[in-house]
Amino acid sequence: MGEVGRRVAEAADLVTVALDELLPRAEGPESRLTEAMRYAALGPGKRLRPYFVLETGRMFGLEERPLLRAACALECVHAYSLIHDDLPSMDNDDLRHGRPTVHRAYDEATAVLAGDALQAAAFEILAHADTHPDGAVRAELVWRLAHAAGARGMCGGQMIDLLGVRDDLGAVARMQRMKTGALIACAFELPLAMAHSGEGERQALMAFAQDLGLAYQIIDDLLDAEGDPEVMGKRAGKDAAMGKANYVTLLGAQAARERLDLLIEQTKSHLDPFGEQADFLRASADFVLKRRN
Ligand code: IPE
Ligand code: IPE
Ligand code: MG
Ligand code: MG
Ligand code: MG
Repeated sequence: MGEVGRRVAEAADLVTVALDELLPRAEGPESRLTEAMRYAALGPGKRLRPYFVLETGRMFGLEERPLLRAACALECVHAYSLIHDDLPSMDNDDLRHGRPTVHRAYDEATAVLAGDALQAAAFEILAHADTHPDGAVRAELVWRLAHAAGARGMCGGQMIDLLGVRDDLGAVARMQRMKTGALIACAFELPLAMAHSGEGERQALMAFAQDLGLAYQIIDDLLDAEGDPEVMGKRAGKDAAMGKANYVTLLGAQAARERLDLLIEQTKSHLDPFGEQADFLRASADFVLKRRN
């Protein structure tokens, strides 16, 4: 494992411990719900969004504890998005992270509620004074995550995905940027908001984040077509079977890969203004974009 792999693993451990502390304990008559939330959020995800929150925050010299809270909030929304994405009424998947999906391990109603409650937990964490001393910054964090998760972000993208809109590649790219790119970009927006960064830094980092998010979903789609389900811990071949529109189903794997290579170079070029300071982000982009799971 290289330097980036080691840092990703370290961040994953930190975030999992912090999430374990922040999520409600499985107690009381509602414990079925809190158990399901924990099953989803503490399971073996890669924690790449939290990793980017932590690394970007460190680049701006922010303290670890508030960054960890922001990272946990984002991971809660991500975990919720996967629970709902797997539901029978959406992608109808039985396997996630090598284990039964939440509605299979529990039941559909519990899965819906666990997703809802994880989303609520995310905003509870962000709004708490421990996340940032300045209420205006906390309000910005809440706003950024809400926007990324909502109708113009993840949920809107999921709607378009389910409708199977296949007008052209531009429409598909927009859908990918919404359903996946918005939460990935949020991993950079949260530390940017906490750091009071300059507008130039913000624009460069957001351009990087947005291309990274699109590339991330194209890789997910390539993995769906060609990846090893054992390594991925989820079923493969389901996008073509369900008639989903994405770069791979529209262009074929070879052409999708060529576009991805160009996109990866473009993604990293947005970091030019940061010079060496952003070396770890460049290396992280390469690491993430070579993923096999
Ligand atoms: C899966 O995301 C769904 C997409 C948005 C592509 P991840 O691959 O990042 O999810 P984890 O690592 O399993 O949590
Ligand atoms: C999911 O995209 C994006 C989300 C917002 C959850 P996919 O449906 O392709 O993700 P997987 O392949 O089930 O992980
Ligand atoms: Mg889906
Ligand atoms: Mg899915
Ligand atoms: Mg997929």
